[in-house]
Amino acid sequence: MNVLEIANLTKSYKGKKVIRGISLSVGKGKILAIIGPSGAGKTTLLRCASLLEEAEDGEITLQGETIASSIEGKAAYLPDKELNKARRAIGIVFQSYNLFPHFSVLKNVIDAPLTVLKEDKREAREKAEKLLIMMGLEDKMNAYPFELSGGQKQRVAIARALAMGPRVIFFDEPTGALDPQLTTQMSGLMRSLADDGISVVIVTHEMSFARDTADEIIFMENGCIIEQGEARKVIDAPEKERTREFIWGSGR
Ligand SMILES: Nc1ncnc2c1ncn2[C@@H]1O[C@H](COP(=O)(O)OP(=O)(O)O)[C@@H](O)[C@H]1O
Ligand SMILES: [Mg+2]
Repeated sequence: MNVLEIANLTKSYKGKKVIRGISLSVGKGKILAIIGPSGAGKTTLLRCASLLEEAEDGEITLQGETIASSIEGKAAYLPDKELNKARRAIGIVFQSYNLFPHFSVLKNVIDAPLTVLKEDKREAREKAEKLLIMMGLEDKMNAYPFELSGGQKQRVAIARALAMGPRVIFFDEPTGALDPQLTTQMSGLMRSLADDGISVVIVTHEMSFARDTADEIIFMENGCIIEQGEARKVIDAPEKERTREFIWGSGR
């Protein structure tokens, strides 16, 4: 069963269509990368798919549950209470990380498990410590976000997302602030999440990262999917002229 399915999704800002009928699905433990030029609508698609923002029209299914259905040309969502429950299956790592600046690293990670999931304090703490160790942050647990590098903040944001036990995790431009070595580590981390059965959706402008990390790639432009398929095939042997132009233009 697919963890996430989206059909015929549309979204406009101020009357201008930004997403023009996109359908996609992500299987359990699969990694999907979305590539495309700036302004293509990648972040908007991610925000709609991760239920941060409402689509205008379309259908969204999460773990077999209908989250939004298309009724008379409009996306009709579950009521707030059920929507919030569904959101627990979703982890999001923003480009800006969005850590709480006045919370320590450890508190950033245990806050939502305590307040939202009502987890036992000791259990939440043990789990958070484990995740932070996994992220190589064992000596930063009591640090504050301002004391961390970009890569460290990002790893806190990932630990925080994982602490909620998501079934699918979304990343927007995860390698933007990383050097080549950390980019390779990020690729390995995503692969290990997928091996643990978590589905991963990445928006990225880095072709080689997408090729080496993802199972499947979607190339989108102007709110539409231009090409999609097996990751290596899309990057190494794209079918569409436009995809070739974009990938070769990127210097690959
Ligand atoms: N909150 C917003 N209000 C108005 N326009 C927006 C908003 N977010 C994005 N857009 C517009 O939607 C288009 C797609 O943006 P975005 O999804 O950020 O593209 P990408 O992530 O591919 O660069 C752009 O033209 C952008 O200016
Ligand atoms: Mg973007």
